[in-house]
Amino acid sequence: MQQEIKWPAEGNARVPYRMFSDPEIYRAELARIFLGPTWQYLALAGELPQPGDYLTTFLGETPVIVTRGQDGEIHAMVNRCAHRGNLVCLKRRGHADNLTCVYHAWRYDLEGNLDSVAFRRGIAGKGGMPASFHLEEHGLKKLRVDRFGELVFGTLSPEAPPLANYIGNQIGSRIHRVMHGKPKILGTTSQILHNNWKLYFENVRDTYHATLLHAFFTTFRISRLTSEGGVDIAENGAHHASYTRNKVDRVDQATSDQLYAGIPSLRENFRLGDPGFLTMAEEFGDDTTTQILSLFPNFVLQQIQNSIRPAAGAGQSGRSRRLCLDGGRCRRQFHPARDPRLRGRVLGPRNGWFRARLRSQSDDRSLGARLLARLSALDGVVT
Ligand code: FES
Ligand SMILES: [Fe+2]
Repeated sequence: MQQEIKWPAEGNARVPYRMFSDPEIYRAELARIFLGPTWQYLALAGELPQPGDYLTTFLGETPVIVTRGQDGEIHAMVNRCAHRGNLVCLKRRGHADNLTCVYHAWRYDLEGNLDSVAFRRGIAGKGGMPASFHLEEHGLKKLRVDRFGELVFGTLSPEAPPLANYIGNQIGSRIHRVMHGKPKILGTTSQILHNNWKLYFENVRDTYHATLLHAFFTTFRISRLTSEGGVDIAENGAHHASYTRNKVDRVDQATSDQLYAGIPSLRENFRLGDPGFLTMAEEFGDDTTTQILSLFPNFVLQQIQNSIRPAAGAGQSGRSRRLCLDGGRCRRQFHPARDPRLRGRVLGPRNGWFRARLRSQSDDRSLGARLLARLSALDGVVT
């Protein structure tokens, strides 16, 4: 047991570095946050269009299966066989009539109920399960599942409030403004960051860096601190949405350029051959060109012009800190520091950062589609 952390007198404005590296704190976070009364993003409903479709993900480090059941509803359960804890679903996604564990062939239905047990009555009158064994007592552990439009969330906690209350009106309306249609999934990509999960979430909420660090925003005038904008905080303080109304610049372009002169993110002589590439269609009726939103603890939803992207992640390995951004999946086996074969590798499209775009805007010339094409071309390349 390490020494207790003494919180600085300045309060939450000062965070001890140990909060990002202490394995005991991380274990407590897994139990109290990721297995606690929070709702965590699992999937887009459109990823599971047909009964029998399934995908696998994680709540913190707990493996989870998400299915579209025969009843047409989305279900989620812990991906641990009730027999001896084997992973029931080994693939990232697939389609099946039932969920059968490869180890001893216990078979579950798409809602996680145990349907059958191999050799339950034994062989030739010998062996088998006792009469006291009841199938209904040995299903997979089920998650509570709820949807906010197309976004599917899950929790293992009976104490989590109803999802709509958890999200609240302030941030709920911000989600609704970009998720008002049925998203078309263009593809997925993933990234491993070698840090604690909290750093990613702090970064998403850090409005200071965006136009200073991201050359793309500043150089192409997609977002600047001279633009109108602000930050909304959820009623419960847990979630946020920052936004830019780039069309409502507080100063003219020349003044804005002057303010950014000398800032490395402004590449003066870097221009697109076809500036129409970045033309935004007014889709939301409120002039908001960028909206970056986070739901505690694992979900981010970004709108940059007409492209939207949900992303999620969690995790930290003991000594080598990490965050796996993989659609909420945190895969120990993909930790490059532990697996030299994967070091520096860009993981493939089976991993889960979803680049989605509203159908009404989904022509091939879209910014999102072109970016995705570039990303797909990079897929599998060692960087
Ligand atoms: S561990 Fe799954 S059937 Fe035995
Ligand atoms: Fe950023």
